[in-house]
Amino acid sequence: MKILHTPAELAVWKIAHPDCAFVPTMGNLHAGHVALVEQARLSGLPVIASIFVNPLQFGAGEDFERYPRTFDADCDKLQAAGCSAVFAPSLADMYPQPQTYFVEPPALANELCGKFRPGHFRGMLTVVLKLFNLVQPRVAVFGKKDYQQLALIRSMSEQLNLPIQIQAGETVRAADGLALSSRNDYLTDAERHEATRLYSSLRHIADALNLGRRDFEELEVQALDALYQHGWKVDYISVRRPDLGLPEENDTHFVVLGAAWLGKTRLIDNVETGPIPL
Ligand code: PAJ
Repeated sequence: MKILHTPAELAVWKIAHPDCAFVPTMGNLHAGHVALVEQARLSGLPVIASIFVNPLQFGAGEDFERYPRTFDADCDKLQAAGCSAVFAPSLADMYPQPQTYFVEPPALANELCGKFRPGHFRGMLTVVLKLFNLVQPRVAVFGKKDYQQLALIRSMSEQLNLPIQIQAGETVRAADGLALSSRNDYLTDAERHEATRLYSSLRHIADALNLGRRDFEELEVQALDALYQHGWKVDYISVRRPDLGLPEENDTHFVVLGAAWLGKTRLIDNVETGPIPL
């Protein structure tokens, strides 16, 4: 596996690998990231991952400085997963000049997580577009774990006519249901034990929707209350259409999304409706 630190090194690698599949990450990799690499490999193209903690998508007071940086262990995992290259630029390589051009996202970027993290999706889309321009992949794979991020990247790619096929990877969970996340490392043992309640609350709403309930607000409020009672500070619990539009009674497919704090850690998760597993 080639380790590429600069856009110039990447450009040389691209000469030998003009078509590739791309998995962008911020590092501190876990089995969720590895599954995206495995999915990217199914394209038959050489897979390149990126590792870059993007300051533009962190707000003031968020965890940019303390975001876990585990480069050597990440490279071992990417190599074992069959990655052909990793692009790990420095801050100065990604932002040689102060970034004064940005992707201006649609209103969806101010809802759900965007309401609580102003500017986050603008910074995320801007770095994803920059990475796309550097890597020029044919395929790029993103996790459904960050459902709103995926929806925005999809619509950006469509509306800006990017010649990239955007693929979605299923959320990889721990045995107890907690969605794997780099931020799970911040949890204390007691918080880690409690953390599964976010998923079970969303699952509970999805099951009720599958059984025909359509009192969206009532379902959301019940889940909010249950989480509050167990010490969570909830940013939102929201039933949406799969395209993240507001749901209506006659809809048949939904996604239930939530974001909530356990102590100093903000967790997000989502569940799509569908047949209830036996
Ligand atoms: P990061 O949080 O490192 O996530 C990288 C990719 O892994 C994203 O597509 C995310 O949705 C996916 N992912 C995270 N946890 C997952 C899980 N449990 N199961 C499946 N996929 C999972 O998302 C980012 O980085 C950044 O915003 C980025 C797109 C790299 C731009 O900076």
